[in-house]
Amino acid sequence: MKPHASRRPGALARAAASALAVSLVGTALVAATATPTAAADESLLSTSGTTWRYLDDNTNPAGADPNQRAWTTTAFDDSAWKTATGAFGAKRGAATGIGAAFPITTLLTQYIEGTTTDVPTFFFRTDVELTAADLDGVPAFEGEIVYDDAAIVYVNGEEVVRLGDDGREITENLQYHGNGRTDPVTGTFVVPADAFTPGENTISVALYQDAPTSSDIYLDVRSLVPTPGEVRDVALNVGADETQANVAWFSTLPGAGEVQWARADEAGGEVDWRTAATSSSRNGTAADGATYHHATITGLEEDSDYVYRVGSAATGWSAPTTFTTGTFGDEFSALFVGDAQIGASGNAANDAARWAANLDTMTARHPDTAFLISAGDQVDSAGNAAQYTGFLAPRQMRELRFAVQDGNHDTASALYDQHYAMPNLSPEQRRDYWYSYNNVLVVAIDSNDSDPAEIAGHEAFLRDVIGTRGDAYDWVVVTFHHSLYSQAFHSRDTDVVRMREALSPVFSELGVDLVLAGHDHIYTRSYLMEGATPVVPDEAPAEGDVLTPDEDQVLYLTGNSSSGSKFYDFDGAKPWTARWEQSREASYSDLDVTPTSLTVTTYTTGSQRVVDRVTLQREAAAGPALDVETSTRCLAGTAYVAVRATNTGDVPADVVLATPFGTRTVATVAPGKAAYQSFSTRSAAVDAGSVSVTGTVPDDGTSSVRDVAYPAVACG
Ligand SMILES: [Fe+2]
Repeated sequence: MKPHASRRPGALARAAASALAVSLVGTALVAATATPTAAADESLLSTSGTTWRYLDDNTNPAGADPNQRAWTTTAFDDSAWKTATGAFGAKRGAATGIGAAFPITTLLTQYIEGTTTDVPTFFFRTDVELTAADLDGVPAFEGEIVYDDAAIVYVNGEEVVRLGDDGREITENLQYHGNGRTDPVTGTFVVPADAFTPGENTISVALYQDAPTSSDIYLDVRSLVPTPGEVRDVALNVGADETQANVAWFSTLPGAGEVQWARADEAGGEVDWRTAATSSSRNGTAADGATYHHATITGLEEDSDYVYRVGSAATGWSAPTTFTTGTFGDEFSALFVGDAQIGASGNAANDAARWAANLDTMTARHPDTAFLISAGDQVDSAGNAAQYTGFLAPRQMRELRFAVQDGNHDTASALYDQHYAMPNLSPEQRRDYWYSYNNVLVVAIDSNDSDPAEIAGHEAFLRDVIGTRGDAYDWVVVTFHHSLYSQAFHSRDTDVVRMREALSPVFSELGVDLVLAGHDHIYTRSYLMEGATPVVPDEAPAEGDVLTPDEDQVLYLTGNSSSGSKFYDFDGAKPWTARWEQSREASYSDLDVTPTSLTVTTYTTGSQRVVDRVTLQREAAAGPALDVETSTRCLAGTAYVAVRATNTGDVPADVVLATPFGTRTVATVAPGKAAYQSFSTRSAAVDAGSVSVTGTVPDDGTSSVRDVAYPAVACG
């Protein structure tokens, strides 16, 4: 029988229904130390309630065993080790002086005997007994530990966490490791529940000095409690097109995750998640120590309600959330907002509250909106996880698909990439991506990357995406953070000037219709721009303008703050500005799309006053270009009417030749080719009349009708 160094005192009970109970094997040792508090009762380990076996004499506990981790296994004989409770430590060989926050209950032998050289490594072991019921439904245990300088925690011989790691390889049991520090570090660690087995489990800790001269050493394992895990910061992003939605979320526990979804109408009130559609997450360790997940919902149908949840048994689940797809037709609406910048006012909670209230207003007034575009600077401090939580807190961020830009306030942290799952990311140019929604193609570029090589990268991405697929959409919209044509001081920034000069001609050349941006916190509508040259109209710009841009003319809009966290002042007249406003009120824009018009109406959020309205109008698509010829002639005493329709355009066309004597349909007439038919009148003469030729472009459904006369003829 293997020796039992210790038993944890008291039963372990979860507050939740599935109570954990740790069976006890009582010993005199435990009885002597068992004064568990209520908190300790819920914990596998506690400072005063856990008795450890420990080794502090500069010997290698594994000796010559080829498995140098043998000392961490349950079978290891630690009966010769010392026995005590924590906290353990020493400061220059004494039990005092390390600080009031770090009391020492058990003095460790700091120095190698007969020297003032630090013992490099200290070894600790304790046992806990768990039943299968204890582990059922528990994804993980979360521990709190205080250590100096570094520690590795093992469960049943397996390493579960490395704390204070300095990157130095651990090659032997007795070695220095970690970084020297003034005070012990308080940290948390997570042990997946499957590291434990029903029965006896051994928890071991190796505690390291960073160097032979370190002045102190400390270890206090304060708790190890079952945790259900938390899924937070769920973000419903736009997918590659209207049939998809990307979802990003964070889990406090590591492990795989997935998104599950089902038609809400089919599910009724009760979703059977076992039969729901599922997509696994791509995941990794987030910059704040949690685990981030990205997954994609596919196969969405229009005008449908879907319910989804994210997570897993290992990490816990989000609450189910319902969203609506809306129309997949070519007439729909979307929302556009400028910088929310949670935290910019100096009060992040205030900014988040106003952001949430403004989203309530926007979605109440535009309940059928398809998705939301944010112009960047979603947060004020890139690495501030709480600001992300504030930005993502409103229910709309889980119920309305949204797209983000990388703002200058977002860019410095991987939290941006981890919190949002944007589709079709560029493999070459960081944080550039694209998506489509119905008849609109949107290309988003990362305007933080603004040196000449990076601008060339954006240009290549734009040319590739728009050049490959732009023709298939009625509208091409480009979005990014740093507005090129705005009315506050940022329009004079070097990076903005450089991008304005380099990218404006590209947008014009590629037939971009509308550019949406932020960064300058002042509403600005540009004139139509040909490259970087404004096309100044004779009449003064006004609310309600209807513009009919040429192919190479682009409209630029700058959103003001959407949360009210920060506003910038007018910076003097700019040659490109058609209209601007700075009323220091949060505002947003509503985009109304049809095949022939794109209207942007900007409102103050609180008062719903119209700040500006502008429409891009284009002629209805003309359909295919057909050259139609008719002729009449006689053949064996019968009159014939011949029709030839030649496709003079550059896309294939379906052609219908309709005459009083019959109709012929020819599918997919290639450019340069003709549809031809000679129709018999079945009589010897025909009066003058006309034929009707209909051409349709299969790709976009546009069509044209030509009525062409033919002359009379009499045969014989
Ligand atoms: Fe900005």
